[in-house]
Amino acid sequence: MQYKNPDLKFKVTPSGQIAWESPSNIALIKYWGKKEVQIPQNPSLSFSLNRAHTKTTVNYEPVKGKESSVNFFLNGESNEAFGNKTKIFFESLSDIFPFVKQFDFNISSENTFPHSAGIASSASGMSALALALCDIERTHFHQKDDSEFYQKASYIARLGSGSACRSVYGGFTIWGKIEAQQGTSDLFATPVSEKIHPEFEHIQDTILLVETGAKKVSSRAGHALMNNHPFATQRFQQAHQNLKELLNALQSGDLENFIRITESEALTLHAMMMTSNPYFLLMKPETLQIISIIQDFRNTTHTPVCFTLDAGPNIHLLYPLSVKKQVMEFVKEGLSPFTGNRGWIEDELGKGPQKIS
Ligand code: PMV
Repeated sequence: MQYKNPDLKFKVTPSGQIAWESPSNIALIKYWGKKEVQIPQNPSLSFSLNRAHTKTTVNYEPVKGKESSVNFFLNGESNEAFGNKTKIFFESLSDIFPFVKQFDFNISSENTFPHSAGIASSASGMSALALALCDIERTHFHQKDDSEFYQKASYIARLGSGSACRSVYGGFTIWGKIEAQQGTSDLFATPVSEKIHPEFEHIQDTILLVETGAKKVSSRAGHALMNNHPFATQRFQQAHQNLKELLNALQSGDLENFIRITESEALTLHAMMMTSNPYFLLMKPETLQIISIIQDFRNTTHTPVCFTLDAGPNIHLLYPLSVKKQVMEFVKEGLSPFTGNRGWIEDELGKGPQKIS
């Protein structure tokens, strides 16, 4: 992959505005552990959400001062920390997009979900930003076909935040090289090419909010702890095997195996955290209570519902659209005592990012 391009400089620097809306995603096969630079230690598989997304508007104009500047507004308020981070990110991309040095940027970003709700805002935010940068390139330099455009956006999003590379597509997405799957790569994500069974085409994700504070351990620190982890080799092998089996389940509509693999992946992710050195624990008592109640409900009613977890205590409750009514009754009656006034967010599989005109 060679994206370096010293020719992409303007003789006369234009100005303009480009806006993209991009979703967050939830991983079923977890990415946990990486090499430099944002290369995953194992392949992962996720689906993009429908309602949880970030809308990012990038205004660009010829640089006025000695060097390019980045002003960042998050949910309508100026955010210096985000501005500085974005400036560093843009500088790191100057071999790929030399034009970033020719602009002053004003960036406004809005999330459709509450901050720190346990939804990866870095995935939606970084993918929206990557799409906007690739769109500036496409608008002023050369036309790309859609597949080139999204592949490059995924590559750029990955450099910003690993799992963000999976958010540039809708539906189910794979990131990481798998020998048997042509076109998969460690450098960018690819949409799952197999036909997905109708059971999973409209999969629901109800996010039960156990805690809404900031993360206790950053995912950067968590990934780093996989470097000397005693179970790392087995874990990376297991992810390959689980991904293969999950792909089969997604194609055949095998809910039983879907549930088994998805829950095992979530618990393995947290088991890795609990067995790293130093160890840490992100689940809360309510997380375990909810898990146990979900499993009891499934066993007694045979409703195909299961959970997954991100790097945090909140529960993503996953189920086919066909059982939504009974699952939402169960959430209201059986699970709401554990979420208190934080409640839940109802989401589902989404179609992916959109350009906003
Ligand atoms: O993209 P990062 O560095 O925030 O890591 C994401 C890690 C998990 O959310 C726990 C798993 C995943 O594959 O999304």
